[in-house]
Amino acid sequence: MTDEPSVHVLVLEDDAQDRILLERAVSSIPTPIAFRHVGTRASFEDAVDTESWDVILTDYMLPGYSGIAAVEAIKTRQLDTPLIIVSGRIGEETAVEAMRAGAADYVMKDNLSRLAPAIERELHQAQRRAEQREAERAANRALAARTEELERSNRELEEFAYVASHDLSAPLHIVGGYVDLLARRYQDQLDAGAEDLLAGAVRGVTRMQALIDSLLYYSRAGRHPLTLSRADVNAIVAEILQELEPQIKAANAAVAVHALPVVTADATLLEQVFKNLVENALKFVGEDEPHIEISGEEFADEWRFAVADNGIGVDPDQAEEIFRMFGRGSGNRFPGCGIGLATCRRVVQRHGGRIWCEPAQPHGSTFRFALPKQQADGIS
Ligand SMILES: Nc1ncnc2c1ncn2[C@@H]1O[C@H](COP(=O)(O)OP(=O)(O)OP(=O)(O)O)[C@@H](O)[C@H]1O
Ligand SMILES: [Mg+2]
Repeated sequence: MTDEPSVHVLVLEDDAQDRILLERAVSSIPTPIAFRHVGTRASFEDAVDTESWDVILTDYMLPGYSGIAAVEAIKTRQLDTPLIIVSGRIGEETAVEAMRAGAADYVMKDNLSRLAPAIERELHQAQRRAEQREAERAANRALAARTEELERSNRELEEFAYVASHDLSAPLHIVGGYVDLLARRYQDQLDAGAEDLLAGAVRGVTRMQALIDSLLYYSRAGRHPLTLSRADVNAIVAEILQELEPQIKAANAAVAVHALPVVTADATLLEQVFKNLVENALKFVGEDEPHIEISGEEFADEWRFAVADNGIGVDPDQAEEIFRMFGRGSGNRFPGCGIGLATCRRVVQRHGGRIWCEPAQPHGSTFRFALPKQQADGIS
């Protein structure tokens, strides 16, 4: 045990007699208490600015100052110190006013027996608050460490995916080249069985090339910082439709585009989102001739875009699954890697937005995504 007082009490009281009475009233508290007495606003403010206090006791009326003003001074400094007003007779209204202002309690001078329990309660509560703050700080530290660890391992994974897909691309190209050469050079000597085997090898190489390209796209969508600018979505969509013209023609698809807004976004990534969605709408077609509709709608704090089709539709059970990496839902009878929508979600989320799929009427699906109007860097 140490003799160091463990409770520091600041008393704002100008009457010497009352100070003695106060000290006497709290002598029943078992913890040693160190008192400091101040009698003016200046000495009170100096005391709270230079030292930390466990409890403050203050008179209600002081020459040129008041208990309420002392409460305000504590609040302005954002201190958590409990303050108890110890006063001569004050009316109930005044007491309520003091509590409203932020006093922890008030005690009448003619009933000082209440003071010791009031202080003990406040000390107890202050300790609990301190423990809670410490627990919160510890939880925040643990969370920050975990987040940092996750970000680090994510970065490493990103790097790995990028390097792996990038470096796999070259040897695969070589394999493709050799298979092609083999097929052409020995064209006349191959029987039907050998031709089938070679065709299988070509299919495998082509599929793997598509997979690597998609992985590279996915990886690029998350690697670089966003390059935000004012992007005219009409122009973005027009360019994509021009690029996809051969597929649109081949599918005999009708594409309707409504007026689209100008938004703040990374134009290259946004283009990828629309491209993936339109490519899907052109791919997952049903019995009817494909009809695709692209639109944008303004909401209070976001832009909402939609790419709707009349294709095979998405099973509601798979509406989430298809946004995952390699998630192919029931569309696996069509060619594809299952990376397009995962890339879309990644791009949209990096813009602080969200993307989802809804059934369209009478059939087909509508893919919607929302971009907040205010991007993180403040450009709007
Ligand atoms: N417009 C759509 N209509 C019906 N199903 C769709 C549509 N778009 C996506 N899907 C379903 O979601 C799955 C995932 O789509 P995603 O674009 O990620 O992959 P993919 O098109 O199969 O392959 P990738 O885009 O990587 O070439 C698809 O396989 C399909 O089952
Ligand atoms: Mg796709």
